Formats: sequence, structure tokens, C-alpha cells
Amino acid sequence: MSETIRVLIPEEEVDKRIRELGEQISKEYEGKQIHLICVLKGGVFFMCELAKRITVPVSMDFMCVGSYGDGTKSSGVVRIAKDLDESIENKEVLIVEDIIDSGNTLYYLMDVLHRRHPASIRLCTLLDKPDRRVKDVKVDYTGFEIPDEFVVGYGLDYAQKYRNLPYIGIVEGVE
Ligand code: IMP
Ligand code: MG
Repeated sequence: MSETIRVLIPEEEVDKRIRELGEQISKEYEGKQIHLICVLKGGVFFMCELAKRITVPVSMDFMCVGSYGDGTKSSGVVRIAKDLDESIENKEVLIVEDIIDSGNTLYYLMDVLHRRHPASIRLCTLLDKPDRRVKDVKVDYTGFEIPDEFVVGYGLDYAQKYRNLPYIGIVEGVE
């Protein structure tokens, strides 16, 4: 059976929620500069949209941390495929992630980044699947809590496809 996509969160809702998060973050970081760290590849669409809605100064860096193969199940192994270009020492770090699932990736990443002595470190995720959590990760900003379904779009992929969808959809017809 070939896969089809059912819309879970329409484009307008995603955009509206990102504007709200941008406003909230701008208020809470008033007078500061935010160093956004995008977790590649999935976080890239969300980070671009979020950054456009933040009114305090921002800088950006990118990191690629993977635990997934081409399927929908975690391999459980976290590895840094691309590290940051710049030091985060004394910076107000905001990690921007597409989705928190088991929490394995962010649990590991938070630990690694804490050791580099940022002034502060917070986590912003577009999506959260709380039912799937294995590791306890503190999320500071969440776009949407979603049920335990495999989703794509807005940066999220299924076997590298569908990242470019402007909405969040559920993949159907997948084992
Ligand atoms: P965690 O380590 O289990 O929290 O997984 C985090 C990563 O798994 C995310 O950054 C995604 O790249 C990927 N992932 C988890 N759930 C989904 C999903 O429903 N669709 C696409 N990717 C997912
Ligand atoms: Mg990711």
C-alpha cells in the first residue's frame, strides 16, 4: 500500500502558533540577544519562521544530531553529524527542534551543550509527543502537543520526503 498524507495541523494554524511563540519569546528575552540553535534537518523550516517573528536581536547556528534511520522507529543511537560553528559560551541559547518524541536526542544534546557554559539554555519545539517520552526533557516552548502518530511536513520527513509540506500531516499506509 502506498502512503498518503492526512492533514493534522493546517498551514494557517502552524503560522499563527509560530507568531504567538515569537511574541512570547521576544517578551521573555527583552533586552537580550538570542542565540538560536537549529537542530538539522527537521528544525530548519520552524527556525526560519520563528526567527522572523522574534523582535530582539538573534544570531543562529546549526547542529545535526541524528538517531533515526530511514524508517519511523528510533535506532536509539544519538550521534553528532555536524557540530556548531561557534562557541556558545555566555550566550542565551535557544534550541529549536521540530519534534520531541522519546526525548533521547534532546536529553543528550542538552547535556552536551550545558558543558559548554552558555549563559542560559532553553528548548523550543514545534511539536511534542508526550506519550512517547522515555527521557525526561524540560521543554520551555511548545507549538503543539500531538498524539502518538508519525507526522511529516514543516521540516519533518518520512524517508527524507515531505519536509517541504507547509502543514503538519499524518502518514497513512505505513507499516
Ligand atoms: P527523539 O530522540 O525520539 O525525541 O526523536 C527526535 C527526532 O526523531 C526528531 O527530531 C525527528 O527528527 C524524529 N522524529 C520523531 N518523531 C517523528 C515523526 O513523527 N515524524 C518525523 N520525524 C520524527
Ligand atoms: Mg529532529
